[in-house]
Amino acid sequence: FYDDKGSKLFQQIMELEEYYPTRCEAEILSKCGAEMAEFASGDKFNLIELGCGDGAKTVMLLDSLIKKNIEFNFVPLDISQAAVEFLLGNLEKKYGEIPFKVQGLVAEYFQGLGWLTDNASERNMVLFLGSNIGNFNKPTALRFLRHLWHSLNDGDLILIGFDLKKDLDILYDAYNDKKGITKEFNFNVLDRINSLLGGNFKRENFQHQGLYNIQTGAMESYLISQQKHSVHIEEVGKTFNFEPWEAIHMEYSYKYLESDIQSLSSSTGFEILKNFTDEQGYFIDSLWKVKK
Ligand code: TRP
Repeated sequence: FYDDKGSKLFQQIMELEEYYPTRCEAEILSKCGAEMAEFASGDKFNLIELGCGDGAKTVMLLDSLIKKNIEFNFVPLDISQAAVEFLLGNLEKKYGEIPFKVQGLVAEYFQGLGWLTDNASERNMVLFLGSNIGNFNKPTALRFLRHLWHSLNDGDLILIGFDLKKDLDILYDAYNDKKGITKEFNFNVLDRINSLLGGNFKRENFQHQGLYNIQTGAMESYLISQQKHSVHIEEVGKTFNFEPWEAIHMEYSYKYLESDIQSLSSSTGFEILKNFTDEQGYFIDSLWKVKK
């Protein structure tokens, strides 16, 4: 999803009227940034952001840390080089001379955890914002958090964004926006398969639909075949036959209850310090401490 074009499209999703998570989290970070910074005060630390994107929300937390004269090195990591460059450019524009050390990394999450293992001698705080964690299913979320735990030291902090279960109409609109940007975001994956792997997907053969799965509690994005047709992908040397209404499952976005957050933290070796939420109660940024 997140090549440079996909990252740009996701930036547009974040600005949509219907896509509430970004707005809710921005509200949390601007309202509670000072209190979060309080938990982080002490010796200098690494502030590592996994999947930083454009970092638009993160600067709110950076501002709170700066205001309290808390010393840190900022390590924003993203799979999209364009996103990391955009973020670094924004920091320069905003601060002129940036008042902390920055080291941008273009890598995947697990490579980022490798960086942590090698460099995490000091205190660390890891940011995993948005609903990044929601894109993992439950076993993968557990595996990821345990891996993160192993990469960190006792007392280190992580701040994780959780999108909460809510009225289905609100969820539905957020993943089926009127402008069709979410559709474009999904089609971009087919375009990439065409250009990188020699596929011959045709957009007009598919309809996009975001659906809530009541059994698993996730929003799921589908591209649904509109007619019987086949797609050949050269690099894998395979032809895929689609029946009418047969769907490609593109993505999950798991939604959480506060009790899910509690059990996820306790089964992965973390202690919840505080749950920060927005006025509508749509989203939680949960601050956890590593217990070793
Ligand atoms: N992390 C985002 C989310 O789960 C990603 C996202 C938004 C997404 N809309 C999407 C992923 C549509 C796939 C399809 O909310």
